[in-house]
Amino acid sequence: MGKGYYISKQMATAAMVLAAIALLTIIALSVVYNREKSKNAAKFTNVTTSPVSPTSKTSNEPWDKYRLPDTLSPQYYNVTLWPRLVMNADGMYIFTGSSGVMFTCAKKTDLILIHSNKLNLTLFEGHHAKLTGLNGVTAPEIKTTWFQTETQYLVIRLEGKLKPGKSYWLYTEFRGELADDLEGFYRSEYMEDGEKKIIAITQMQATYARKAFPCFDEPGMKAVFYITLIHDLETTALSNSQAFKKENVIINGTAITRTIFEPTKKMSTYLVAFIISDFTHIKAQVNKGVSVRIWARKKAIEDGQGHYALNITQPILEFFEKYYNTSYPLSKSDQIALPDFNSGAMENWGLVTYRETALLYDPQTSANGNKQRIVTVVSHELAHMWFGNLVTLKWWNDLWLNEGFASYVEYLGADYAEPTWNIKDQIILYDLQRAFAVDSLTSSHPLSRKEEEVNTPSEISEMFSTISYSKGAAVLKMLSEFLTEPVFAKGLSNYLNHFAFGSSVYSDLWDHLQKAVDQTPGVKLPYSVHDIMNRWILQMGYPVVTIDTRTGNVSQKHFLLEKEAVVERKSEFNYEWFVPIKWMKTGQEQDQLWLLQKSAIHKLMKVSKSEWVLANLHVSGYFRVNYDIGNWERLLSQLESDHQVIPVVNRAQILDDAFNLARASIINITLALRTTKYLINEREYIPWESALRNLNYFFQLFDRSEVYGALQAYLKKQVKPLFEHFGTISSNWTTVPKGHTDQFTQIIALSLACSTGVEGCRELTKSWFKRWMQNPHINAIHPNLRSTVYCDAIAAGGAEEWNFGWQMFKKATVAAEAVKLRSALACTKVPWLLNRYLEYTMNPEKIRKQDATSTIGYIASNIIGQPLAWDFVRANWDYFFKVYGTGSFTFSRFIGDITSRFCTPFELIQLKRFQQDNAETGFGSGTQALQQAIEKTTAKIKWLAENKEPVLQWLTSQSV
Ligand code: BES
Ligand code: ZN
Repeated sequence: MGKGYYISKQMATAAMVLAAIALLTIIALSVVYNREKSKNAAKFTNVTTSPVSPTSKTSNEPWDKYRLPDTLSPQYYNVTLWPRLVMNADGMYIFTGSSGVMFTCAKKTDLILIHSNKLNLTLFEGHHAKLTGLNGVTAPEIKTTWFQTETQYLVIRLEGKLKPGKSYWLYTEFRGELADDLEGFYRSEYMEDGEKKIIAITQMQATYARKAFPCFDEPGMKAVFYITLIHDLETTALSNSQAFKKENVIINGTAITRTIFEPTKKMSTYLVAFIISDFTHIKAQVNKGVSVRIWARKKAIEDGQGHYALNITQPILEFFEKYYNTSYPLSKSDQIALPDFNSGAMENWGLVTYRETALLYDPQTSANGNKQRIVTVVSHELAHMWFGNLVTLKWWNDLWLNEGFASYVEYLGADYAEPTWNIKDQIILYDLQRAFAVDSLTSSHPLSRKEEEVNTPSEISEMFSTISYSKGAAVLKMLSEFLTEPVFAKGLSNYLNHFAFGSSVYSDLWDHLQKAVDQTPGVKLPYSVHDIMNRWILQMGYPVVTIDTRTGNVSQKHFLLEKEAVVERKSEFNYEWFVPIKWMKTGQEQDQLWLLQKSAIHKLMKVSKSEWVLANLHVSGYFRVNYDIGNWERLLSQLESDHQVIPVVNRAQILDDAFNLARASIINITLALRTTKYLINEREYIPWESALRNLNYFFQLFDRSEVYGALQAYLKKQVKPLFEHFGTISSNWTTVPKGHTDQFTQIIALSLACSTGVEGCRELTKSWFKRWMQNPHINAIHPNLRSTVYCDAIAAGGAEEWNFGWQMFKKATVAAEAVKLRSALACTKVPWLLNRYLEYTMNPEKIRKQDATSTIGYIASNIIGQPLAWDFVRANWDYFFKVYGTGSFTFSRFIGDITSRFCTPFELIQLKRFQQDNAETGFGSGTQALQQAIEKTTAKIKWLAENKEPVLQWLTSQSV
């Protein structure tokens, strides 16, 4: 701690000195700047500069490379922006701005490359920028400037060389479009009291800061930002740091406000944010005077929708301060809910942006699932304030560590804020199992990529994958568990202190964890942290560990969904891992073992016929487990006689492992099906959710065959007691249970009972919806149950129900309610309604751009909607690719959604044809997703051919 404090104090002094120098330079420069301004009367007028690219694509010129050279290093920026929130004469929304950047020269060069995308730069004496030397240095003259569109650079060639160690000032003025494209500096619109409101917001990650102002747009190029925003009198401007001056000025005859912000800390361009809106806020102070504010539309704040987020922010910040052993690095924390937002949330330092559903909670209409979403997203983004923002991975190839880490610790922060929810258990559902699903394909990829492999914006965007987030979270959880939590936390806090305000690579974290291990007596590892972790992050996939309890033989094998799949990607570790195995014998926890070879004898795991072994206890490891059939049988009878001896997460994982082993033809499908038998006595959420996912997959495979009926009959039998249980404890569905996860189980009971036709279920949901239709002002359906009820009623109904749902969707003032309706509208079985709904996704007036691809995804998950959605997307492929294909990380999910039901040879042919037809334009950030879809479909076809009969037989045998 002492050392960390010393460093940060030094840093603080250095920062102050730098800030003082910066201020002086700015004053000096403002003279130059004003002179420049008056000279340049054409300021912000239409400067048409056609981009010229003097070299071909194949050239080896620096401006054709996507990575910046290491010749220049930015120190601080002085950015002024003025968004116009009214349409101009050309029918466009624009912003104007100016930006100066002070950089030092590290290596002699006569070339300046700075990112700039879709900005129209003002000419100064024929050039797009102005260069000045600082501290008495004379800058070389500019020879030529041009835009290199492909690599998104403004290229500046100089007559002479910049000198190492010297500093320069590069100044630009520009104009950009304030489009509604959800990227860079963009526009969002919403209706309030019948009036259309417009706000200006930013989303810089990963490569859009260059669309707001010219900058050295790489995460390792950290700098200080001096930001000034010009905006209408009645609006508020927000940015990463606190506003220190707000003044009303007259510019070109208009009275306007200028808000000047304090200099930021040294930070990456992708974390810069600024927002102009007429939003209001609520606030609180946390320890040490950090001001915490929640911002949203006036109406949302008036309705109290920000309170939940405000209440949990304080404990979450407190938790991370303790966990990281480092104070919150900034003096304020703003969080804002935005009506148009591409991802779920974005960790801009000090000004975190959210989709409304991820921040706003309305106790009257939001479900407990919505509440959980908020606490986990807030926890995730606040975790980044240290991990990611204070210390930043140097390049996007290491993104998995940033996102995987936040995805792991979000559970810890959320658990601290909501200690009664057992939320940490859910990592196995939302990360581990999700990662398992894609990581069992040969088209998967290792967590870690080489720096040279990730260059273009599309490649960067593709890094935001399930593997990065969820496998990252799962392997970090495993690491933390085998090191023990205190050792992990100690190494982590040393790492953060060491690299504060700087950048690192993933192995730096391993180094600090290793040091913590070495300093802690009693923690013994078979190999170094490096050696153990390399196998998990440098090779794709994961092992299935097979335990033969007759001999004590324990072995491992790369788990692949398709048993005959050929793995083309080579691994230096031969697809073997160092596996930490926590386990229990007949209900008693044992000492952890390590499997360090392909196969080994662990005598302790040889057990008698009356005992059983359960491995991967508490699902702490990223691997599946298989046993000899005798042990499987004993586990199954344990589940059926007294399932509670087995921890709840293991009950869920047994199901998931068994089904997936069966899908990979490693065990018999009837064995997997048998793991669901005990569910008749299960009341816990996590095992039910696990079962449901696996069974849903079955439903999708069989929904066009006779197996469907048998499956329904079996599930109906299994869920009936659950449905009745909740009916009883909720006084016939008039209340909801107290326990957080019990509320989730109740939802499963209702939806599964209704979909399998348990008597009395549909009548209930139909009557609730009908009552609402009769009196639209009173919606008595409990928020938790709304998604299910809406979907069932719209599926059972026709145009009248659909149109009512649409009206309510359009009127909804709570985003969470709108999502429930939007997804339920996709449940109709009426083709023309589905087709019309599909058309709506191309009209932002009807469906917001941020929601279009997920809406199509909902439609594709409906058996009637699936072929319609697939045809619709193919017919409009150019549009979807253009709008969502290269930058948006939701695009890969979109491809997954529209293909997830595919399981016939004909569908596989269509998929491959689709791939060929569009080979030329490619699939942008959805390239991997398409590959995965092909592999999954292939595996399903093969599996179905072999297993349809046994499945039918087993299910039929259960109904007698
Ligand atoms: N940094 C991401 C947001 C992001 C993702 C920006 C992709 C640009 C491209 C943020 O920290 C994040 O991970 N958000 C998640 C929610 C989180 C709780 C998993 C998201 O947006 O889905
Ligand atoms: Zn994140």
